[in-house]
Amino acid sequence: MYTVREANAQDMLPVIDAYYSYYDEVKRNPELGLTLYNEKPDLNVEKKWYADLISSGRAVAVVGEADGRAVGLCTIEPRKENSVMSHIGVLGIAIMQKYRNMGMGRAMITTALELAREKFEIVVLSVYSNNLHAIHLYRSLGFTEYGLLPRAYKRGNKYFDEVLMYKALKA
Ligand SMILES: CC(C)(COP(=O)(O)OP(=O)(O)OC[C@H]1O[C@@H](n2cnc3c(N)ncnc32)[C@H](O)[C@@H]1OP(=O)(O)O)[C@@H](O)C(=O)NCCC(=O)NCCS
Repeated sequence: MYTVREANAQDMLPVIDAYYSYYDEVKRNPELGLTLYNEKPDLNVEKKWYADLISSGRAVAVVGEADGRAVGLCTIEPRKENSVMSHIGVLGIAIMQKYRNMGMGRAMITTALELAREKFEIVVLSVYSNNLHAIHLYRSLGFTEYGLLPRAYKRGNKYFDEVLMYKALKA
């Protein structure tokens, strides 16, 4: 069982914990379609990032909660604030491995898109071309591909193409 809701200040440590788990996961699975830094960022850096995310009022942040704690985060952040691109939100999502494939991702994105209607006109995202799970989900939620950057990601000696997708929130 899970619930989906807007993220709050109490979610900070579970959200950071989930984020750190992807650094461990990518060691087991170098095909993981997440764009991570070469090293786990320092806890204080993460705390500041999260506090800014929650307090800015300009981003959408939705968590999936299971077993009494946040286990995934979906954000939609302004592409570039105070600019000609502020009407565009950039979506990112990740859920801890154990909680995937039970509909939580779909529910989180659906909620995030509803909240995004008050802040953005267009939502864009980038996804690794080998991430068929995520691409299936995005397409089914109304995202359309608008481009592909070959070899956009390089992990060790392996390259991955980047698929660019968008969804217009206004007609
Ligand atoms: C991508 C992610 C957010 C999706 O969330 P989720 O909760 O696992 O996904 P859901 O259970 O909501 O949706 C599953 C859908 O994908 C489909 N799916 C699952 N694996 C698939 C695969 N390998 N290929 C195609 N479709 C697949 C399911 O059939 C289901 O589709 P349906 O609802 O039409 O039946 C989550 O798996 C995740 O965090 N992955 C790792 C990080 C990541 O890749 N983030 C995205 C970066 S762009």
